[in-house]
Amino acid sequence: MSKIKLELTWIGKNKQEKLEPRILLEDKDLSYRASNRVSDHDVFDNKIIFGDNLLALKSLEQDYTGKVKCIYIDPPYNTGNAFEYYDDGLENSIWLSLMYSRLKILNNLLASSGFIAVQIDDNQYARLYLIMCEIFGEENIKTICVKMSEPTGVKMASINKVGGIAKLKEYIILAGKSGIKGLSLEKIPKGSWDYEYKTVCLGLSNEELGFIKNVLDDEGRSENDIAKVEELSKKLSFIPAKEACLSEGNKKLTDDWLFDNAWRIVQFATLTGGARDLAVEKKLNYDFVPAAFTITTAQSKAYLIRGEFNHETRLPRCKLLFADKYLEVHAGDFWSDIKTTGLDNEGGVDFPKGKKPERLIKRIIGMATKPGDIVLDSFAGSGTTGAVAHKMGRRWIMIEFGEHCHSHIIPRMQKVIDGEDQGGISKSVDWQGGGGFRYYKLAPSLIQHDRFGQLVINKEFNPEMLAEAVCKLEGFSYAPSDSHWWQHGYSTETDFIYVTTQMLSAEQLEQLSEEVGSDKTLLVMCGAFRCDADRFANLTIKKLPKAILKNCEWGRDDYSLNVQELPETESTLEQDELI
Ligand SMILES: C[S@@+](CC[C@H](N)C(=O)[O-])C[C@H]1O[C@@H](n2cnc3c(N)ncnc32)[C@H](O)[C@@H]1O
Repeated sequence: MSKIKLELTWIGKNKQEKLEPRILLEDKDLSYRASNRVSDHDVFDNKIIFGDNLLALKSLEQDYTGKVKCIYIDPPYNTGNAFEYYDDGLENSIWLSLMYSRLKILNNLLASSGFIAVQIDDNQYARLYLIMCEIFGEENIKTICVKMSEPTGVKMASINKVGGIAKLKEYIILAGKSGIKGLSLEKIPKGSWDYEYKTVCLGLSNEELGFIKNVLDDEGRSENDIAKVEELSKKLSFIPAKEACLSEGNKKLTDDWLFDNAWRIVQFATLTGGARDLAVEKKLNYDFVPAAFTITTAQSKAYLIRGEFNHETRLPRCKLLFADKYLEVHAGDFWSDIKTTGLDNEGGVDFPKGKKPERLIKRIIGMATKPGDIVLDSFAGSGTTGAVAHKMGRRWIMIEFGEHCHSHIIPRMQKVIDGEDQGGISKSVDWQGGGGFRYYKLAPSLIQHDRFGQLVINKEFNPEMLAEAVCKLEGFSYAPSDSHWWQHGYSTETDFIYVTTQMLSAEQLEQLSEEVGSDKTLLVMCGAFRCDADRFANLTIKKLPKAILKNCEWGRDDYSLNVQELPETESTLEQDELI
């Protein structure tokens, strides 16, 4: 019996688009770089691409397959009512087709150890999750829930009126190409004091306690280190935190005092199993039991044990845990600590219907990359991903087809590069400016109809553009040679391509064949040729544009479909701010 695959289907799912791998054209007037170097780590190798992201991603495939370390996308959530005249199934089908084709290319671009994070809300979460499972593998996926709004503002009035439930959270569906591992997720400060930590250690300085903590943590510790810890521990005494605080002239015990004194505050945790037996045995061997002593388990774990404990109990509470080691906790899969209000001016651009907090993007980029890695956002919006990646020393690529590419992204990135953007994450990474980016737009389609309805090479293509475009179509790397006029690109060390709109005679091809020699091969893409195509062993001769006409769909610039971009019913962060 054949295996049935569990998958989500929709109208048009299996429609395969034959995308044209367009070339990118740099507009040097819109590219930008800092006037001088700020550090040795300045990053210049960044790209803003203006155009539809499906075509742009296709055009990146040749150079970036397997190279992108982190992709963050925040696509339109499809929450609007643009399709109120369509049936709901079709609406979802359009959105799903849009995401499906893009996610498949994004998957190709991801490095083997890379991650993609897709932000979404309830409207499409379930469907998006299923298609991501299909593309990236269910075992490689984890959903993070992130607080994106506060239960305040205009929306609460209507929510309260109808007795509804306010939307405060969104999701980040994270997919790791090789599973959810190898991440370095930042720790977040604990919000409130854990009152299990209620005993103060007296008798040792911050430095001395620091030494003890380091030795306990270090599995490569020496016997000498342990001996020093034992010596220091004899000086310890313990008193309740409240008593210590009041004895220092404070009127009452406050959380501020506890956080300030975390370095010397402990809780006594339960000791179990073999470790308990070790502690009991060591205690019973002392003539005079010290205030604290160490034990080291067979697995090289070392603990500081309070001397005064009831050794007859099965689970004695005697293991010292220092509060300062637990002031920060793993962020986990529920991120509620990132501020979502008061961010209207972040990045110096107003993008009220979709701008995400820089702190959020920093956490995602930080957990999945290191400096120099490539970060990609193909739904760039106001440019948050690029701004954050740049400040974090990552290389980045952003794609955006809206005019805000020019009105928002470019000015935002210029300010970042000039060191003038001191908002967002700038202070936390000590951002001083530097680096640059290149601005590209997608070239027009290589093939167009002439006035007789014939498919011909687009007149806007000069010889260089034509050579680059044909290289891309044929899978050759475009690299015109200074020494060999016929080498426009290569596929291997000995296989080259030559592109021309000229008609080549038999004599010209013979001469070319001799120049290429018997140790190399050349694909000749020309306007016409006058000889038998198989005449030269080292030449493959094809006619332009005939040879490429079936390669892809020509002349289509917009694959964005008709998805309503922005939420209509939800209040925005900006609205929240008004209250
Ligand atoms: C929600 S916004 C992203 C906001 C962004 N995360 C930020 O912090 O500013 C989604 C963006 O995707 C862009 N977009 C939608 N479809 C696109 C397409 N087919 N090609 C390129 N950009 C597209 C929209 O123009 C919009 O700017």
